[in-house]
Amino acid sequence: MFESEISKRKTFAIISHPDAGKTTLTEKFLLFGGQIQTAGAVKSNKITKTAASDFMEIEKQRGISVATSVMTFPYKGKWVNILDTPGHKDFAEDTYRTLTAVDSVILVVDCVKGVEEQTKRLMEVCRMRKTPVIVFINKMDRDGKDPFDLLDELEENLDIQVHPLSWPINGGRDFKGVYLLPSKSLNLFESSKTKLSDDVISVQGVDDERLPQLVGDKNAAKLREDVELIEGVYGDIDINNYLKADVAPVFFGSALNNFGIQELLDTFVDIAPNPLARPTTVRDVEPTEAKFSGFIFKIHANLDPRHRDRIAFLRVCSGKFERNKAYKHTRLEKQVKFAAPYTFLADSKEVMDAAFPGDVVGLYDTGNFKIGDTLTEGEVFTFKGIPSFSPEIFKELINLDPMKSKQLEKGIQQLTDEGLANLFIQEPGSRKFVGTVGELQFEVLQYRLEHEYGAKCRFEARGIHKACWMTGPEADLKDFMKYRGSNIAYDKSGNPVFLAETAYILRMAMEKYPDIQFHTTTELIS
Ligand code: G4P
Repeated sequence: MFESEISKRKTFAIISHPDAGKTTLTEKFLLFGGQIQTAGAVKSNKITKTAASDFMEIEKQRGISVATSVMTFPYKGKWVNILDTPGHKDFAEDTYRTLTAVDSVILVVDCVKGVEEQTKRLMEVCRMRKTPVIVFINKMDRDGKDPFDLLDELEENLDIQVHPLSWPINGGRDFKGVYLLPSKSLNLFESSKTKLSDDVISVQGVDDERLPQLVGDKNAAKLREDVELIEGVYGDIDINNYLKADVAPVFFGSALNNFGIQELLDTFVDIAPNPLARPTTVRDVEPTEAKFSGFIFKIHANLDPRHRDRIAFLRVCSGKFERNKAYKHTRLEKQVKFAAPYTFLADSKEVMDAAFPGDVVGLYDTGNFKIGDTLTEGEVFTFKGIPSFSPEIFKELINLDPMKSKQLEKGIQQLTDEGLANLFIQEPGSRKFVGTVGELQFEVLQYRLEHEYGAKCRFEARGIHKACWMTGPEADLKDFMKYRGSNIAYDKSGNPVFLAETAYILRMAMEKYPDIQFHTTTELIS
């Protein structure tokens, strides 16, 4: 019974460079999954460029992203969990963390733009974690790049072998549809935002004599040529290579026109991995283990500033999570219990009694959780691989109202627990440096500190190039910290961090202390 629950779960994220069509595809999946009845029900969670400093937009964004953080629906006997990732690049860290909680991803690429900057960055994380990837090349109703060139671009830039499972017949205004390689059938394109099933026509391969009649003489000839080439180069797909993250199946379609979604979703639920084992500080944890374990990968503040509670998102990794059962919070070494954990069914939150590996549970939190915290049935370990990246921008937090020091202290501690930014404290004097991946986070922090904690502050730029966590021989570390004392601060777990002012200073430090390793993510030191 328990194992059959696990084999139903498909937990994944849709990732893309902004504007490639992630929101549209998510919406179409929900539409096909019967969770929403009309297109347009899922709001884009992105902050538009023009609204980057509009605080109401930020608030709106927070609201939307809670509602669409996790979308769950049953489909063809499986249980699909889509974990949403923010589109804005300043929240990229949030996306990286969410990727630790999924078992596979679907990457959306715009056929006009090809591989874009964020596509590369996101794929690097997937490659690092060996996450299986399916690629959906979107917007085929637009005049895009040549499909062969797109495949080359994917292979070159994303460092993964691709394997087309569908093939476009023309593109843009002349887009005729796709040829489905495994089933040797045709899916003919019809521009429609409401149609819910594809008109798949069974043909006897590309040699079928009806082909010219169905797609036109020229297109039929070109398709025959293309397919011969593709079959020669790629052969049959070996699903194990996809599961090992060596090969990415590729589909072509148009999310806006509901085209190519059915075959993508059907293939996805068929081949995507079920919940996978996950590494901890002690051992690998298998999903089939009887005892429950899971970790927090995201924390979201309550939208109502009068209630300071937050929602912590727990990914169940093994066993069965149950309501009102006491679990061990391994960092705090204490028992915790949840009276009203909830699941995310479409846009309604429902209190749940039990959750299984692959599921995400929302837990009300009054300040007990930090990103990466682990819950178990008693065993002490911590799930590994939840990265804290070296921030790109550093500023010092300046208190503007000495009467509200306590509120500011509490606020910055809690907001950085949410993973919005990194906090580094330097002694003596308790100077606080905040590091983020984007400028937008400073605006969000300042706004939330004032509105939720009543603390006024300002951020002053400081010339810091990188924050590096350090490992190495104790004597060297001690000596280095003495020598570079004024550039050492401590992260929230008490680890010393070297705040290097320039790349040159960092290089000099590396040369002077060859036995010390300088890391830009904490994942490497845990
Ligand atoms: P994102 O979440 O990856 O940022 O992208 P999103 O789905 O919001 O899509 C970005 C834009 O691309 C949207 O247009 C959307 O309608 C359009 N789009 C998505 N899929 C397709 C497709 O298959 N073909 C074409 N031609 N366009 C597509 P927008 O004008 O920015 O927004 P909207 O006003 O249409 O919502």
